Amino acid sequence: MVDWDERFESGSYPQHPDPAPVLKRYVDGSGDGRALDVATGTGRNAVFLAEHGYAVDALDKSRAGLETTRRNAAERGVAGNLNCIQTDIPSHTFPEGTYDIVTVSFYRAVDRFPDLKAALAPGGLFFVEHHLRTADPVEGGPSGDRYRFAANELLNSCLDLTVLSYEEGIEVRDDGRESAIARIVARNASGRQSYPRIREWQRQESGGGRP
Ligand SMILES: C[S@@+](CC[C@H](N)C(=O)[O-])C[C@H]1O[C@@H](n2cnc3c(N)ncnc32)[C@H](O)[C@@H]1O
Repeated sequence: MVDWDERFESGSYPQHPDPAPVLKRYVDGSGDGRALDVATGTGRNAVFLAEHGYAVDALDKSRAGLETTRRNAAERGVAGNLNCIQTDIPSHTFPEGTYDIVTVSFYRAVDRFPDLKAALAPGGLFFVEHHLRTADPVEGGPSGDRYRFAANELLNSCLDLTVLSYEEGIEVRDDGRESAIARIVARNASGRQSYPRIREWQRQESGGGRP
């Protein structure tokens, strides 16, 4: 069992991890709604969303992680946008139809997906990234397969939403270790809806110029 307070206090977990680039693609500077970051750790997504104008509920059971999250938000001048809540996620009660974006990075919350999806406001975004089972000799993530997604498991678990982006692959994370990752962005939508401009973000990711 990982002692998360110890990991955060010792600095062995990144204190200022970046939000995922794919999240940056879908969140612009105009957010003024509500956001939920599940298992916020040191605030990777929560501080990013607060900086983009969202009123963020940041959940974690680790006192040390939440302290670092508050400190990171204060350093960026957005502490007022952040509500840190120390809680046990498996038994947490999520409000329904509330959040314009829900983020979960590197915490296996699949048992709570029905409640997290129900917590989305109409049109709200669901962003999840987590470790994946793989035959490759990766260093990052849980040692056993039990807490990793199987191939397409994350995708299949979100097919009741509109999937905007899904990827599985190997990447180097903030701590320098290679990890196998599954990552999804999906929207709580029914009927007609708006979509991101695909050519626009392809151009941004390739560093400019027309594809
Ligand atoms: C790998 S870290 C991810 C932190 C952050 N989302 C990130 O991507 O940097 C996992 C986080 O889950 C939290 N966590 C683990 N079990 C939890 C539980 N039962 N309830 C709430 N948080 C929990 C830990 O305290 C830790 O902050």
